[in-house]
Amino acid sequence: MSDDPFLVAADWDAELAAEWAVRLDDRAADEMQVRLRRRVCELAGLRPGDHAVELGCGTGSLLADLAAAVGDSGAVLGLEPQPYLADRARARLAGSPAVTVHVGSAQTLPLTAASVDAVVAQTVLIHLAPATLDDALCEARRVLKPGGRLVSADLDAGTRVIDHPDRVTTRAITTYNCDYQFADGWLARRLPRLLRSAGFSVESVEIHPHLAAGPEGYMFAGAVRLAQAAMTSGAITKEAGERWIGQLRELAEAGSFLTSIDYYVTAAVR
Ligand SMILES: C[S@@+](CC[C@H](N)C(=O)[O-])C[C@H]1O[C@@H](n2cnc3c(N)ncnc32)[C@H](O)[C@@H]1O
Repeated sequence: MSDDPFLVAADWDAELAAEWAVRLDDRAADEMQVRLRRRVCELAGLRPGDHAVELGCGTGSLLADLAAAVGDSGAVLGLEPQPYLADRARARLAGSPAVTVHVGSAQTLPLTAASVDAVVAQTVLIHLAPATLDDALCEARRVLKPGGRLVSADLDAGTRVIDHPDRVTTRAITTYNCDYQFADGWLARRLPRLLRSAGFSVESVEIHPHLAAGPEGYMFAGAVRLAQAAMTSGAITKEAGERWIGQLRELAEAGSFLTSIDYYVTAAVR
């Protein structure tokens, strides 16, 4: 049973949606994430006048990069099942005539066959249940023109590293995170194989590590949230979790917080 909150994103109340919007925007502002979006656009091979669709566009940070790549003569469709996030994306892209944002899902694309040059997804496929993922890959292939590209960037949750003196609790927290907080925490490493099975030709697989060595960015708050989620689920005791978070804060105050995770960027051709 997965505790992945994005499996039920469409049903979030306004407060939860607003919390996630802030987290997604915090992550998007990180310099590493800026470079990651640039690379996704490069691999999508978009040119002025092209048509692209982004699955699960969230608050629209990647839409802005895609809009710049296709220019005003192109078209970018952002699909997002969570209405509040879709509104945020629409507001962000209000000045970009090429962009439209629809409330919708990756498994039913409102596009005709062979109509787009690129399908992109950033930290979305990792959150799809297996049957939904199969449908989404099938839909992506249907709407891509021959030679069109699918580019997906996803973290692999099994690559999360957190420096902490309590190894037992750290392992319990990262294992809970990988195995229960995503529909499939290992999706990124499996994706090339799944894409081949779905009829794509895989062009490249890249790893972009995200190393954070200070408490100021979203990675520190994220590490604390992992421990809180592991406590809530019962994967670790409240006592162990609170001790772990306290020690992490002490490390951070002493200038010794260190964490990393790998993002896999996979590009495939129809
Ligand atoms: C971790 S967020 C990433 C958002 C955005 N791509 C980004 O990088 O900031 C995952 C997104 O996938 C969306 N999502 C969940 N299920 C989906 C589905 N079946 N089809 C398309 N998007 C979905 C969520 O609503 C959420 O916006």
